[in-house]
This record gives sequence, C-alpha cells and structure tokens, in this order.
Amino acid sequence: MKNAVSGSFIGLAAILLGTTAVPVSAQAPVGDARVGAQRAAMCAGCHGISGLRNAYPEVFHFPKIGNQYPEYIVSALQAYRSGERSHPTMRAIASSLTDQAMADLAAFYGQGGLRATTASGK
Ligand code: HEC
Repeated sequence: MKNAVSGSFIGLAAILLGTTAVPVSAQAPVGDARVGAQRAAMCAGCHGISGLRNAYPEVFHFPKIGNQYPEYIVSALQAYRSGERSHPTMRAIASSLTDQAMADLAAFYGQGGLRATTASGK
C-alpha cells in the first residue's frame, strides 16, 4: 500500500512544517479576516474578489475562492504546500504561507471577502 505510506509521510511533513511556522502553541490558528484582507492583496491578481473575473479567464482557470468554507481553503493551501496538490504556481505561493497566514486568508475569503468587520473568534 504505497499510498498509505506516502500519505502518512506527507502528514508528518505537514506537522513538522506547521511546528516551525507557528512557534507559539496553537495547533489550529484562529484566522483574522482583517489580516487576511491585507494578505489577500497577493492573491487578488489571480483570484480576484468574489464575483469578479480575472483579466485572462480564457487562458487559465482560476477557481473562485471567495465564499468557500474556510476549512476547505486551508486544506487546499496545505495540500499545495505539502505537494499533495501539484500546481506549480499555487505550490510556490502556499509554501510561503504560515499556518497563521492560511487561517487569516481562509477567514477573509470564507466570509465572502469584504465583510471583515468583526473577525476575531467566531
Ligand atoms: C499567479 C496566480 C495565482 C495567485 C497569485 C494565487 N493563486 Fe490560488 N490558484 C491559482 C490557480 C491557477 C489555481 C488552480 C490550481 C489547480 O488547478 O490546482 C489556484 C487554486 C487555489 C485554491 C484551490 C481552489 C479550489 O477550488 O480547490 C486556493 C484555495 C487558492 N488558490 C488560494 C490562493 C490564495 C489564498 C492566494 C494568495 C495567498 C492565491 N491562491 C494566489 C492561481 C493563483
């Protein structure tokens, strides 16, 4: 069962990466949508804000990530970072993100992008 072996290796790698990226306790960081809104500046060029199209829709398929479940966004980003998902661009981006950054971005996108008023601890 090759899959079971490589699967647990990826899981372990994710745990190790998470540990170095987030020195202060917290296993699952709580996302702050206001911080996420600032971080999302580097995503908007491709993903846009929910509802808007990017400039070159016919060249690349950029999935719409606004309004998706925060858990889904975090797990997708972790999958790019671990290599489980292999898209080169998103891998490069995700590998620059800490767990906290992913949580912030997920909080921001998960609530639809712009309604970032009261973000702390839902
Ligand atoms: C250079 C363009 C580009 C930038 C910048 C970019 N993305 Fe992406 N993103 C893509 C593409 C293309 C895909 C589809 C990749 C695939 O097919 O796996 C994608 C996929 C995703 C997915 C998976 C969506 C799904 O439905 O499974 C998430 C989540 C995501 N990006 C989040 C982000 C976040 C958060 C940022 C900013 C930190 C970001 N992206 C910046 C191009 C980009």
